[in-house]
Amino acid sequence: MMDRPRRLRLTPQLRALVRETTLDAGDFIAPIFVTAQSKTARPITSMPGVQQLPLDAVVAEAETMARAGIRAIILFGIPAAKDATGSDAAAPEGIVQRAVRAIKAAVPELVVMTDLCLCEYTDHGHCGIVNGTTGKRDPRLPEGYVLNDETNEILARVAVVQAQAGADVVAPSGMMDGAVAAIRDALDAAGYAHLPIMSYSAKYASGFYGPFREAAQGTPQFGDRSSHQMDPGNAREALREHALDVSEGADILMVKPALAYLDVIHATREAFPELPLAAYNVSGEYAMVKAAAQQGWIDERRVVLELLTGMRRAGADLILTYHAKDAAAWLRG
Ligand code: PBG
Repeated sequence: MMDRPRRLRLTPQLRALVRETTLDAGDFIAPIFVTAQSKTARPITSMPGVQQLPLDAVVAEAETMARAGIRAIILFGIPAAKDATGSDAAAPEGIVQRAVRAIKAAVPELVVMTDLCLCEYTDHGHCGIVNGTTGKRDPRLPEGYVLNDETNEILARVAVVQAQAGADVVAPSGMMDGAVAAIRDALDAAGYAHLPIMSYSAKYASGFYGPFREAAQGTPQFGDRSSHQMDPGNAREALREHALDVSEGADILMVKPALAYLDVIHATREAFPELPLAAYNVSGEYAMVKAAAQQGWIDERRVVLELLTGMRRAGADLILTYHAKDAAAWLRG
């Protein structure tokens, strides 16, 4: 007797019945860029279909997302002015705080997450306080080095301000050691013990962030992020990073980017079965698909759904993706 796997592929109904991994719009977290620098929407050239939005347009976009069945968004802010310490990030009237308040007032059921990093707010484009730029200079550390503990102090303050604005989840993305603990302590002390932290726990120093840096205007003016983000060759180290963040109080883990790191997603899922895991389908991954689709070289809908399914199959529960709105519409058929 021959084993015939094709028996279960005979009809669309049979195929759907035995499908192991399914996609749902409710698994997506849609990134949104809010700008204080413009009264009108500004397209991002390297990310067709994604725009920097002024405050009122952000509310409309959040409403559209919710109507499409998307449960969560994550906000990135482009402030009116940047400085060495990224002060807009911690300002109660900072751009992201205003966006959170406006969105929560209009669409209270939408889970609003806030990216918690300084790179969009610093004039040098780095994720924290850079050695030498605010007076203090440690000669033992390299030029452009992001000072760990000084940065954590600021991140902890930003987390509280984001919580006060009404954020449902804060998401530290800067890969500072001990950031989750510093943020957890500050939130608890400020009366936000109930507020979850989604940590960008395994974030690699990746070429795939290029378009995002155009979008958030956060390209480092010198140096790069290799002294805090992970080396692309390391998978076991990701488990060390996750374990630390879990011990510090992370509630959701993340692997970022997704496509070149599906093995890391898989290993994370196996090692931390008890925690929700997010994968970040980043800007460069989005741009590649869009560029090939615009040339007519691939079928965008098929490829996007296949990629997102692959991320879920690898072990991600949640996917941060710029395809969220399109994919949600395609899934509804
Ligand atoms: C840092 C941050 C970055 C991204 C998300 N949060 C940029 C970076 O680390 O340089 C990249 C996301 C993407 O490429 O889609 N705040």
